[in-house]
Amino acid sequence: MKKLDSLILKYKKREFNLLTLLEETVKIKGYLSFKTLTYISENLKIPLAKLYGVASFYSFLPTVKTGKYIIRVCNGPSCYLNGSREILKVLKKELKIDLGQTTKDGKFTLESASCIGCCDSPPAIMINNKVYKNLDKNKIKDIIKKLK
Ligand code: FES
Repeated sequence: MKKLDSLILKYKKREFNLLTLLEETVKIKGYLSFKTLTYISENLKIPLAKLYGVASFYSFLPTVKTGKYIIRVCNGPSCYLNGSREILKVLKKELKIDLGQTTKDGKFTLESASCIGCCDSPPAIMINNKVYKNLDKNKIKDIIKKLK
């Protein structure tokens, strides 16, 4: 907890943005576990419900342990109408997991997203912060193969 203690000390001394605190905590801990949120709550005197409310609202603030690669399959209208269901089906089969799950080796987590801002090039996904557009079955298989 040494790095987290340093972070808490930094935020004890000044006004702060809760989102920034939680983003920095994710960088240190990887995700916001109940234990971590409780620790922050007790040390910064922030209600646990408030911390959890913010953490669970934003998809970039994971509250469960995720894989090295977080794959977000866009399920917005443009992607949905242009094959996102097929992309998701391929991913589920290749990774042998369902939405919200992480592979046993801890490498991949599969999630859905409402829109990732690439509606002109559907279907699209994000893997961590990188966007992949105009996907088809073969392209997605190649991407996963390279990451395995
Ligand atoms: S609907 Fe998929 S990127 Fe917008």
